[in-house]
Amino acid sequence: MLASVHTRVVPLALPAGFIFLGEGFFLFSGLVLALHPEVLSLPRHPLGLAGAHLFLLGFGVGVLLGALHQLLPVVLEVPLYRLGWGYPVMALWALGVALLALGFAQVPVLVPVGGSLALLALLFFAYNAYRTFRLAPRWNRVATALAWVGFYVVLTPLLGLVQALSLRYGFYDPERLTWHLLAGLGGVFLLSILGVGYKLLSMFTLTHEVDERVLGLFLWVANLGLLGVALGERLGYLLLLLAYALALYDTWRILKNRMKKSLDIGVRHYLGGLCFLGLSLVALPFSPVQAALWFTLGFVGLVVTGMLYKIFPFLVWTHRYAPKAGKERVPLLKDMLPEGAGYLAGMLLAAGALLFPLFPWAGWVYFLGIFPHLYALWEVMRR
Ligand code: HEM
Repeated sequence: MLASVHTRVVPLALPAGFIFLGEGFFLFSGLVLALHPEVLSLPRHPLGLAGAHLFLLGFGVGVLLGALHQLLPVVLEVPLYRLGWGYPVMALWALGVALLALGFAQVPVLVPVGGSLALLALLFFAYNAYRTFRLAPRWNRVATALAWVGFYVVLTPLLGLVQALSLRYGFYDPERLTWHLLAGLGGVFLLSILGVGYKLLSMFTLTHEVDERVLGLFLWVANLGLLGVALGERLGYLLLLLAYALALYDTWRILKNRMKKSLDIGVRHYLGGLCFLGLSLVALPFSPVQAALWFTLGFVGLVVTGMLYKIFPFLVWTHRYAPKAGKERVPLLKDMLPEGAGYLAGMLLAAGALLFPLFPWAGWVYFLGIFPHLYALWEVMRR
């Protein structure tokens, strides 16, 4: 009940703005992938860097920020400290991503400019989140996961900016790229997806009273694992495998105790994403580039698109129809999404992600998958 009170006050323009800007960056990153698969054969290729940041900082972080503006009040049971700050965060982040990508691809001087704007946006968001955390009447482990995500979402661009400046001013250290990668892929995406995804999965499957202790243990093990890998310790990798096993165990428990028996489109995408995460972890010691691709395109791509099929119709329905429900005929929540398009997108994205590290033409398959995904979200907006 509390949750619905807090969610209703977030205007649709805020999460929807982040989501649609993020979708624009997704489309661009897919185009880079399809047109220039050769970027993968050269480390730190300018277009590879542009594509990676369009996908991760543009699409991934964009959807994450949009979702968090909605989800933080639900998890913390308190409204956001300053809801209106979401708009300048959106403007700074979107401009930052666009300039950063243009900088990597064409105009190097724009890299620190775009990077600074993105960092400013994320700092601003993290401060808003921090003030909201301080207002929370209760604490839980999903909140701990979100606090870690807040930390990494600032650390990652900070390390990226240091790296960009060091390239220009001559104190470059290749080691720092590993830290930047681990903070971004591991800290931001692994922790947010498995920490928040856990909450969403329980909500989507109507699983009540989930024991949160496994999530608490997962956070310790995953953080220590990331630190270990960053320091070049073999134990770090083993801890990441253990964190994955804990996440699988938790998912299995949630599914076993669920009230809603059929698995919906969001849950199926989540499970597909978890398979890619396993593949990526197995590949990591032998082929880090393949591992990063399976992680990014498969795990992040599938989970984020799948979550949107659940979150976005709910947002639109709540804002547009909830006030009219009971007074006039309104569409059912389950009729908001053209599911066929969502499943088609999921199959193309999964096939593209699986094959791309081995066959560069599969970049086109991935790119094609973005269109039915966009169509599905567009239809939700129209219904
Ligand atoms: C959450 C946000 C971010 C994520 C997930 C992320 C992720 C990545 C990834 C995956 C790479 C390697 C790409 C490749 O080798 O093709 C990379 C490299 C790089 N990133 Fe980011 N990045 C983020 C934000 C930023 C920001 C804001 C900047 C600011 C300028 C930045 C600057 C860089 C630089 C300069 C490199 C190349 C480093 C080097 O060559 O050593 N990143 N990033």
